[in-house]
Parts: sequence; C-alpha cells; structure tokens
Amino acid sequence: MTTSPRDDDRLRAEAIAILRENDLGAYTIPTKGLYPFQWNWDSCLVALGLARIDEDRAFREIETLFAHQWEDGFVPHIVFHADAQSYFPGPDVWDTRRATPTSGITQPPVAGFCLRRLYETASDREAAAARTKALLPRIAAWHRWFHATRDPEATGLVAILHPWESGRDNSMDWDEALARVSPEGVGEYVRRDTSHVDAAQRPTKAEYDRYLRLVQIFRGLGWDHGALHEASPFKVVDPGFNAILIRSAEDLAALAEALDEPAIAEEAARHAAAGRAALEGLWHEGLGQYACFDRAAGALVESASIGGLLPLFALEPGHARAAVLAKRIETVCARARHPVPSHDPADPRFDRLRYWRGPLWLVANRMILDGLARHGHVDAATAIARDGLALVARRGFAEYFDPLDGRPLGGGRFSWTAAMVLEFLDLIEE
Ligand code: GLC
Repeated sequence: MTTSPRDDDRLRAEAIAILRENDLGAYTIPTKGLYPFQWNWDSCLVALGLARIDEDRAFREIETLFAHQWEDGFVPHIVFHADAQSYFPGPDVWDTRRATPTSGITQPPVAGFCLRRLYETASDREAAAARTKALLPRIAAWHRWFHATRDPEATGLVAILHPWESGRDNSMDWDEALARVSPEGVGEYVRRDTSHVDAAQRPTKAEYDRYLRLVQIFRGLGWDHGALHEASPFKVVDPGFNAILIRSAEDLAALAEALDEPAIAEEAARHAAAGRAALEGLWHEGLGQYACFDRAAGALVESASIGGLLPLFALEPGHARAAVLAKRIETVCARARHPVPSHDPADPRFDRLRYWRGPLWLVANRMILDGLARHGHVDAATAIARDGLALVARRGFAEYFDPLDGRPLGGGRFSWTAAMVLEFLDLIEE
C-alpha cells in the first residue's frame, strides 16, 4: 500500500493536531480517557514526533519524565501528574509515596535511542547539545540501576519483573511465567480499560488478577528495588527489552563521546558489549529467532513474538545472526497482510485482535525498520514505513491494528501513532 502526496500532507496535519490535543504542557498523554497520565516509553517516542513541531517541547517531554526519576536511578513507567479516575490501577494502588505519585515498575528504556535521534536531527545545535548533555547522567544512572537491580549475577542481561515493564503487556511470552503467579488474595477491583475499549481487544481477567498481585507483592516490600528481583515470582529476560537497553547504551555512548563525557561513554559501551555477548544465549534454534528466558524456571520460553525479532535493532552491523533474523521477519510478515504482527500468525495462540498477541503496533515497527535499515535491508524497512502510513491514512490513528485486515483497534487519536507517522514520513525521505 502507498499514500499520495496529498495523503501525506493530510497525515502530517492530523498527526500534529493529535499531538497538540494530547499535550498537557510539559508532557503528553497517550490518549484521552484510557491513558490519562505520562507513560515512560510513550513519552520518549512521542518526543520524536514533537521534534518536528517544536524542538524545545520535544526535549521537555523527556526532561519531564526524568524529573521524576527516583534517587536510586529508577525511572517509573507512569507519572501520575494529575488526578484522573478513568485509569486503574491508580496512585493509591501503587502507593509509592512520591511527592508526585508514580508507579513502581519501569518500561523499555528507549530514552537513549530517542535522545540521540533528537540531538542528531535538531536544527538548534547549541540548545540541543546543552539539553542532551544534561540528560546523559540521568540516562546513565537509569541504565546502571538496571544492571544493579535486574542483573544481580552480572549475566549482561536484565530481567523484567512485571509483564507491563516489557511494554508488550499481554504477550504470549509471559503466559507460563504469569500462570505461576498465584492470584490468591488479590481482592475485588474494578477495571477501567474495558469501559473504553472492547474487552476482546484487551487482556483477560485472569491476566489482570496476576498483574495486580505482582504489584501487591512489590508494594508489600515498600518498593525497595534492591529486594524485588529476589522476591518476585515473575522474572523474565526479554530479548526485546534487552535489545532496547543495548541499543540505548550504544546511543548513550555515542552521545557521551560527542559531548565530551568520557566516563559515561566508557560505562555505556561496556554495558552494550556485555549485553550483546549475552544476547546469544537467547537464540532459539527451533523458532529461528530470539526468545525469552524465564529466569525463575531456568528455561527458554516457546513463544515466537516480536520481542524475539527486536534484537535486529541492537546487533552490530555485520553480525552473523542479522541476515537470519531479517529473513525471519520477512517470513513472519508474509503470514499477515500488514507488517509486523506482534506474534507469529502461524502460532495457534495468535489472536489478531488482542493487544500484544497478534496486532501490529507502529512503535514496534519503528524499531524493526531501524534494525532492517541498519543491516542494509533498506527496501524492506521502507516498505514497513509505507504500509504504516497507508494504514493510518485509511483507518485512522489507532493504538494498534489487526495485521490481517488493517482494522483499527484499542484507543483512538493515539499520540505515539501520530508521532510514528511523522517519523515514517521523514524516514522515507531520508
Ligand atoms: C499499554 C501498552 C504499553 C503503553 C501503554 C500506554 O499498556 O501495552 O506499551 O506504554 O499502553 O500507551
């Protein structure tokens, strides 16, 4: 599918209108109603779109997120800047006792990757250098936090302790590990998400019980991040999450090098190298891609999700696996009409409507196409960007899409979808 120049102008104008409408001044909400606060990786990715409208505002988006970094380096997945009743679980459930309430779990660390892109494409070079330089120690502290609290045995790879940390909330990747979390004692609660979106497009009640149970366990430990890894019944090493951390470390090292911060550059390069070496342990020969490692069970997870394709975004150019992985992406995409399904359609558990169990997401596509281009598959990368643009032109700025027929799913007028449209329009010209 392609778009015409007229479509492109209309898409650009509409994307900007959506970002403006979800802009609350110093941060952007993902969409009204369903997600009324600041989300971590949404904000960083949204900044890529904001940079086309207002560079100052783009940096501010990331600065606001890091203004709520905890003293230990942790950066929360949600910052509850203002009250809103339309979302559950809200600040009282998390009970992190911060001046501005936040959640106590984190999200994929795309900040390093996004900041490098902001810096390199900024037209006001001086302002970009100053603001980037000020953020470097903060991102470095977050990465250090990951290695200290989520990789206590220094394997080179970090674990997530809650499915929501992955950003791919209900992926098949978590099914077995989550099933081992007993929902006992979770109590009564009222979900809000299913009053905004059809329940068939959202996680199930059994999953939600366990999501909440994990929050209760961590809250019971007073959100002492040093204690959570040991105590958590759920700890999974996700290739997608680690690929993002490795790539951000590589980008942080490049920025630190350019901005004369040698200590940060050296540490980040060391993290990236250790992560890359360890990633090899997540290669799943049977699936022909990377897979999660369930640290509690001590085994690889049989799940062919998009998480296992994302390492293309982090592998060094020339890496032997890159060509195999690019081929695997092609195979998975050939099983759907629109790239890239969040799970392999050949898996009987594939669910074209349900959130991260099949639908396609433009933010994941952003990273996949970056990986393809990085390894020389420029046409395949451009095809993914073009399909995404055509999909939005025809079906609107949805949260996610059915990869078999392009049907728009989840919330509407979505910020990161708008930001990705602006990104894709630029990328196909770059
Ligand atoms: C959902 C997504 C997550 C995203 C959040 C806000 O929870 O799975 O990745 O950050 O919504 O858009």
